[in-house]
Amino acid sequence: MLLEKFIMQGGARLSGEVTIGGAKNAVVAIIPATILAKGRCVIHNVPNISDVSILLKVLAEMGADVAFHDKRTVEIDTTNITNPYVSYELARHLRASYYYLGALIGRCGQASVSMPGGCSLGVRPIDQHIKGFESLGASVSIDHGVINTSLEGSLIGSHVYFDVVSVGATINVMLAAARAKGLTILENVAKEPHIVDLANFLNTMGADIRGAGTDVIKIHGVDIMRGAEYSIIPDQIEAGTYMIAAAATGGDVLVQNVIPKHMESVSNKLIHAGAIVEEYDDSIRVRREGPVLPTNIKTMSHPGFPTDMQPQMTAMLALSEGTSVVTEGIWDSRFRYVDELARMGANIQVDGKVAVVQGVERLTGAQVKATDLRAGAALMIAALTAKGETEIEDIFHIERGYEDVVDKFRSLGATVKRIEVPDVDIPAAL
Ligand code: EPU
Repeated sequence: MLLEKFIMQGGARLSGEVTIGGAKNAVVAIIPATILAKGRCVIHNVPNISDVSILLKVLAEMGADVAFHDKRTVEIDTTNITNPYVSYELARHLRASYYYLGALIGRCGQASVSMPGGCSLGVRPIDQHIKGFESLGASVSIDHGVINTSLEGSLIGSHVYFDVVSVGATINVMLAAARAKGLTILENVAKEPHIVDLANFLNTMGADIRGAGTDVIKIHGVDIMRGAEYSIIPDQIEAGTYMIAAAATGGDVLVQNVIPKHMESVSNKLIHAGAIVEEYDDSIRVRREGPVLPTNIKTMSHPGFPTDMQPQMTAMLALSEGTSVVTEGIWDSRFRYVDELARMGANIQVDGKVAVVQGVERLTGAQVKATDLRAGAALMIAALTAKGETEIEDIFHIERGYEDVVDKFRSLGATVKRIEVPDVDIPAAL
């Protein structure tokens, strides 16, 4: 087996321009959504990441025709979907595989999808998804790690009040309800930009969805949806990652193809931490000349500070002139990467969902491991600032969600290469 790693040299101040790709957490909902119509969809601004490849493979296994026009445009024809099943082999790679449940229930009333994988961030229940599907009239059971849904008659519009604000449940139930009979009202929903993007895509396909981006979404179910052409919004988290990398390295970077409104909570915290942030129509310039200042952060659902930016921000605050308190408000266990930052010299104490970050003067290169996607991005940021060489293992996590990450960082002046080395077999202990 080959081990894939990033080898990075720290010390360069990032400078130049970087262009952000399509949003991972939008495209992973939009690809399954194509199932809702029997027809041809053309999706532009598709990010070149492994989560996309896997979701397209699932579609192809179900009987869809999938073809890339170019690196970022994919054509999907779902006319001949015959097999409403997602195997463990594919589902285990990512969380979003469960969006096939909502889409398949909407299209044909039945689905069997293995329990999803995705980043390990603590318990990731799906009770709210099930609550929503059952309210619409579907039966749901979990047998041997497979979620099975079936339906007698049609999905019937309903009123669903979610007990917790969940991106995944909002998306999944919205997918199913798009084809239900009558009106569905979803309350206490997530408001992330990718929820709005999915609703816009579904409406382009002929759905009738209003209120996405607010606390209440109203869906008038439609009988027929059609194929559509659509362009995915820019990735808020990829953009934020390069913004933080620019600030952390004391650099000067123009981040292109962003929606500045989506970045407000991140821009705001970067300014508190000593960066200068200038917003333009579809780009943001970030630079830092003075020290990194300590800043407290609490992650919350949108429009609060995103949990998916917490590790990257913590990596930068590890270099601040003082103490910052970082509180994780969404996931039970999103500080596993702190042990890896500690190998590089960071001084961070974690107690449950709170990390106290005591800034140090410098980090030093070390051998570290990406424990999940955003943790991997945080390690890349730390490596850019560190003295000497950092070797990051388990980069498959990073490549799930960051397109062309080596080329993008290199174009900003970073020294980073991707290597593949044979795995060493360690003999079993006697
Ligand atoms: N929750 C429940 N019951 C449910 C669903 C969720 O209790 O049925 C809880 C979760 O345990 C969590 C909270 O609700 O405490 C929020 O979870 P949510 O459902 O919003 O998260 P998700 O849909 O599983 C998506 C992103 C994550 C991101 C979170 C929060 C995708 C594919 N994943 O996950 O992104 O952290 O929303 O914003 O959209 C990432 O991109 O690195 C990533 C992990």
